[in-house]
Amino acid sequence: MKVVVVGTGYVGLACVGFVTMGHEVVGVDVDAGKIERLNHGELPIHEPGLAELVIDGMREGKLRFTTNLPEALTGADVCFVCVGTPSLPDGSVDLQYIEAAVASVRAAKEPQTVVVIKSTVPVGTCNRFGVVSNPEFLAEGRAVQDFLHPDRVVIGTTDPLAKEVMLAVYASLDCPKLVMAPASAELTKYAANGFLATKISFINEISAIAEKVGADIRDVAQAIGADPRIGPHFLRAGIGYGGSCFPKDTEALMKIADLNAVDFAMLKAAKVANDRARERFVQKVIATTGAQAKLAVWGLAFKAQTDDVRKSAAIDVIELLLARGASITVYDPMATENAKKVLGERVRYASTALEATTEADALLVLTEWPEFKNLIPASGAGIGFPHHIFDGRNLFADMHLAEKGYAYVGVGLGQTV
Ligand code: UGA
Repeated sequence: MKVVVVGTGYVGLACVGFVTMGHEVVGVDVDAGKIERLNHGELPIHEPGLAELVIDGMREGKLRFTTNLPEALTGADVCFVCVGTPSLPDGSVDLQYIEAAVASVRAAKEPQTVVVIKSTVPVGTCNRFGVVSNPEFLAEGRAVQDFLHPDRVVIGTTDPLAKEVMLAVYASLDCPKLVMAPASAELTKYAANGFLATKISFINEISAIAEKVGADIRDVAQAIGADPRIGPHFLRAGIGYGGSCFPKDTEALMKIADLNAVDFAMLKAAKVANDRARERFVQKVIATTGAQAKLAVWGLAFKAQTDDVRKSAAIDVIELLLARGASITVYDPMATENAKKVLGERVRYASTALEATTEADALLVLTEWPEFKNLIPASGAGIGFPHHIFDGRNLFADMHLAEKGYAYVGVGLGQTV
């Protein structure tokens, strides 16, 4: 089949995976510079396996990128709209890019082309535009893997012909394909992200209790996660969720609830708990080092394996500490350039993790990059490395740092055995 993808962000680029499902793919974007770079095999984002997919697809003549939408749509069976849906100041979704993209596709498409929105859009959008809903559930850092091996494919349409085309597009995937009304598909996406965000906030609140009562949150999480009704995933306590999805989508879901006169108290509480997880961590640091301390920060990305700092908990924690007068040197293996756009000259940037710790009163670990584990000197009594380590991700929790002479503080580690 011929598949056109409009928008070359995370979701649009992951759609390159349609090539491996046997389809021809044309990626379209209004940004000519980006299209030019993509046609030279240069990717605007870091995603494991994506560059290989793009380069192989182009070499085999099954993938190309263009700014010319009408030309791309010639003979297309299906067109996926994957443009951005940023938040407006009131938390609602800005649909201007969707509106523009759908209008351009409508004007240029052939009668048989099925138009699909893959971007996360408010409930009712796909019905309003008369298009199919097909939300994407991939997570950053594993976009290719998630796209090619999804837990389920959700297809929102009441049109039998569109349903047939959509099932044909995904025919090679071995997972449930759930066909439902467009509103159900759209709500599924928000419900999934809202639920996962709530799950994280739940474990973070339990972690606050664990610290007080002398429990180890990792043991509690493992034990409750063994119950299949709860499940083991998304129970890692830390400094709260961030990224381009959970904060934005929980806001949007609260807005949808408000508009429909539903008081979604639980989701509001999840957001409050998320802010509190950051603040609690900051308080722990300040209680030891004082507000004006010299701090080393390892990790800026909103999670490991990405250079994305959007709504990163690490950036939020740094902002809170800066506001109280801390002096901070940061290091991240991948996200420094993006962080510079947010933090500017308010922090110092180290070119290695160990350089960041020089003369610091304490080390703060804010993103769970696994390589950080190899950088802690064997003895906390040595010179040139901070004695105090505050671990916002429990990355070092199993390294027995207290026994090695460090003052180690994780999240929810009341008593470890
Ligand atoms: C999330 C969802 O996981 C995807 O299914 C969804 O498609 C995507 O949003 C989206 O809507 O586009 P993503 O934002 O890439 O994906 O990252 P996650 O791996 O879900 O992590 C989100 C945040 O939660 C990160 O800040 C992470 O550190 C935090 N987190 C995650 C925890 O604090 N604890 C956990 O146990 C898991």
